Amino acid sequence: MKKKVVSTLLAVAMLATVVTGCGSSDNKATENNDTVVETADTTTADTTIADTAADAAADTAAAAADATTTTEGGLADKTVGVCIYQFNDNFMTLFRTELENYLVSQGFSKDNIKIVDGANDQATQSNQIDNFITEGVDVLIINPVNSSSAETITDKVVGADVPLVYINREPSADEQKRWVDNNWDVTYVGCDARQSGTMQGELIVDLGLEKVDLNGDGKVQYVMVEGDPENVDAQYRTEFSVKALTDAGWEVECLVDQVGNWDQAQGEQIVANALAQYGNDVEVVFCNNDAMALGAYTAIQNAGRKVNENIYLTGVDALAEALQLVIEGNMTGTVLNDHFAQSHSAADAAIGFANGDTVEKYIGCDYKKVTNENAQEVLDQVK
Ligand code: GAL
Repeated sequence: MKKKVVSTLLAVAMLATVVTGCGSSDNKATENNDTVVETADTTTADTTIADTAADAAADTAAAAADATTTTEGGLADKTVGVCIYQFNDNFMTLFRTELENYLVSQGFSKDNIKIVDGANDQATQSNQIDNFITEGVDVLIINPVNSSSAETITDKVVGADVPLVYINREPSADEQKRWVDNNWDVTYVGCDARQSGTMQGELIVDLGLEKVDLNGDGKVQYVMVEGDPENVDAQYRTEFSVKALTDAGWEVECLVDQVGNWDQAQGEQIVANALAQYGNDVEVVFCNNDAMALGAYTAIQNAGRKVNENIYLTGVDALAEALQLVIEGNMTGTVLNDHFAQSHSAADAAIGFANGDTVEKYIGCDYKKVTNENAQEVLDQVK
């Protein structure tokens, strides 16, 4: 008897989480709308993708040749401190590896580039920033653990007269306004996550409602697996992927919306639970990144479902493993999050600061939609 009450309570609690998840995401979406400064222009995106691997390698080689002439008495002696929110993140690993390679190609000495792991803990990262300041680095590149700590970080770094390049986790509009108002040597490099969300939604819309509405009830039932909310990418990708469907006139129903923290194992768990609870009613699984989509794919396989036949799955980042799944037809699509363009822009901004140049306060880049049609091409570029 007691056992039954407990399990009923558990079931109610589970349902409450799920319902709250979908609901809170909608609320978040509304809040976000208030802070939207400009809408991502997805129409130009396909034609304006920045360099990926092949180009990047050529750039890096050309830059290395250039570096000798442009950096005499310059970059080889400069020191750069790089704070990554956590090393245990697939996308940020690609990012930091390319960042280091590109900085070296530009004339930095490898010994003068120090990259540290914030281990997803703001206190740890704040200590690392203090240490870099004490050591007297010439420029800092920071991927904050908590975007909400940006104001404190900026005050500390600007106070120490060190130029600062934020990457990947965009500080608030208010915070960015302070850099402009005070003309501080601070900038942000990143892509507009609204664009990636829209593209994810378009990957589904492009299939046509008839195909996606597998249970034929006139609406699309979906599961949303969100990244760590400390990165605004998670909120925007959640909001704009669904918006692409409703903008196309489709009715949608959120079955589950939960945070998987960009993590493959958490993505797998969330989708396994969702499939156990909702079974064939799950028509689309949106994951805010590919790592979680890889986990989702495992859960889908274990549930005996087949992507593109009786369920659809999308992610973001274009990790090599995800591109392979898209090629095989085991993922519906993904969106290239161009770590080459972003790491090069971040390095260029750091170099600009180190050389005393004026650097823009916001440096953007474009995402690219990846389907079965172009996945091989993108894989050849990124690997
Ligand atoms: C996102 C990326 C995720 C994760 C996150 C970390 O842009 O898509 O995979 O790396 O950044 O903040």
